Amino acid sequence: KSTLEQTLLSAIRTIPDYPKPGVLFRDITTMLGDARAFRRAVDELVHPWAGTKIDKIAGIEARGFILGGAVAHQMSAGFVPIRKKGKLPHDTVRVAYSLEYGIDEMEMHKDAIAPGERVILIDDLIATGGTAEAAVKLLKQMGAVIEAACFVIDLPDLGGRAKIEALGVPVHTLISFDGD
Ligand code: PRP
Ligand code: MG
Repeated sequence: KSTLEQTLLSAIRTIPDYPKPGVLFRDITTMLGDARAFRRAVDELVHPWAGTKIDKIAGIEARGFILGGAVAHQMSAGFVPIRKKGKLPHDTVRVAYSLEYGIDEMEMHKDAIAPGERVILIDDLIATGGTAEAAVKLLKQMGAVIEAACFVIDLPDLGGRAKIEALGVPVHTLISFDGD
């Protein structure tokens, strides 16, 4: 394994049977609390786009806000929150997405991104890809040019990467856990 993978593996905590029996929960709070691991994750998340002009970082509530804010600062880009419905005060675009049980909706302010702006989407983890797919739909509705979607953790067995790549968006992840 690369030193990056070793750093992340030892910084991400795995909790068995959370939030329900049989699930291995990948907990990034330990990575966020580890100064070296947090910095490394932020650096590597957008390393392929270093030197590229990115206008906005879009972060997905809630854990994507923490990473996305740090990335936006680092890239001297603006930050755009993509939120669960009912949290944003101004006019929004909204899209439904499916969760394990039922559906929810994600929103973004209509004026958050101008057509043609170059955007990178950030979240902590991609599993089924349903959440990221909803975010991609919102960004496309506003005419964003989505350069990439970046995640610390990939759960490849759940097919999210393929789902997002099928939308024409390159996916970059730092570490993957099989068998989840
Ligand atoms: C988790 C994770 C991703 C999403 C991935 O968020 O942080 O956002 O699930 O799942 P998917 O690829 O199957 O859609 P969660 O909905 O638990 O909310 P949180 O980030 O607010 O804790
Ligand atoms: Mg989340």
